[in-house]
Amino acid sequence: MLLPGDISPQLGGQVRAALERYLARAGVPASAVAAAPGRVNLIGEHTDYNDGFVLPVAINRWCVAVGRVRLHDPAHARSRIYTENLDQAVEFDPSQRDVSAFEAGAWPRYLVGAVWSVLDAVPAGGAAPHSAPSITPLDIVVASTVPLGSGLASSAASTVATAALASRLLGRNLPPAALAAAARHAERTFAGVPCGIMDQDIAACAQPGQAMLIDCRDASQRPVALPSAEQVVIVIAHSGVRHALAGGQYAARRESCRRAAAAMGVPALRDATLADLASAAAKLSEHDTACARHVITENARVLEFIQALAASDLHSAGRLMLASHASLRDLYRVSCPELDTMVAAAAGTPGVFGSRLTGGGFGGCTVTLCRPNAAAELTARLRAAVGGSAAEPPFIAQAVGGVQSWAI
Ligand code: GLA
Repeated sequence: MLLPGDISPQLGGQVRAALERYLARAGVPASAVAAAPGRVNLIGEHTDYNDGFVLPVAINRWCVAVGRVRLHDPAHARSRIYTENLDQAVEFDPSQRDVSAFEAGAWPRYLVGAVWSVLDAVPAGGAAPHSAPSITPLDIVVASTVPLGSGLASSAASTVATAALASRLLGRNLPPAALAAAARHAERTFAGVPCGIMDQDIAACAQPGQAMLIDCRDASQRPVALPSAEQVVIVIAHSGVRHALAGGQYAARRESCRRAAAAMGVPALRDATLADLASAAAKLSEHDTACARHVITENARVLEFIQALAASDLHSAGRLMLASHASLRDLYRVSCPELDTMVAAAAGTPGVFGSRLTGGGFGGCTVTLCRPNAAAELTARLRAAVGGSAAEPPFIAQAVGGVQSWAI
């Protein structure tokens, strides 16, 4: 089978393996494939739903979706999605939108929701939609190397990949930004997670070798050059604690932010200053005040971090990461003892610039910037810190591009 020449050997291997397994299982070859990356957020946590700034990087871990239109015979009138990671399948009527058929918080709401969201999206101008996309049954298989529940946006990788595959199979021709929007719609409307915009936008729109500054007020994106691989590497390490964003804590933090913005009379915490917060403190609980303080200072840290990178001042960038972690731990209160231990272990390792929890928190991963020759010692210390409970050992992440899809 022919894959594009610029596909990396790592992704090419994952795609080929997924296509071979599809053929073995279905007895017919898949006709299209899509791949969307996970991400690590360098700084700017819990700022996206406050109209603030984030600085994610798409990483070389992907969700690959392969599939084809199901044969048009009455026995195959339903769409089917199978996840290899969980070895589970669901079937659904493509013309219905019955989310209650699927367990709350479970994966089918995300992936079936992604297919529905593509059907509901407006096709790109000039594209000739498939003759009857709303009743065309699809057979989709997803397989992900983004560790699940790890703060690396595994759900965005899988919804963006599924949306991209459905878009291609149904002739919808949605561009990356529309795929991100469809994936987000699935997560918010069908899975019921009130997520911000960061994860889907970076999974869809990332550029290889670059981080992406996203201004979450207007969703504008600016590629940010990363230091060279001779200067710094990005190490991701799992705490062994899985988080679930569908749990109430994420939504509860959003509520705290909403109350704080309302008490200060600003549209979003992006617009507030620490002076505004001091004036409004009497109207707010201690917890809401602390949450708002995190968001206000975190937004400033993102912009300072970018300046530090531009000046090749990695020590300042690293200090900002440590300050971000302390703020997430003490003010926003989304860390856990395992993550704190790992960040402390990283901070004490020679050659490390900075370290912090990444993603929503309550478990998942840390991200650390260090000199390349410090990575081995750092990895050993991080493994010792979590005592072998992590599913995957720490790894050095490469900055990759956003979603891709191909007809086979
Ligand atoms: C999750 C959400 C994002 C963002 C982060 C926290 O990953 O999906 O939108 O809010 O948490 O920064």
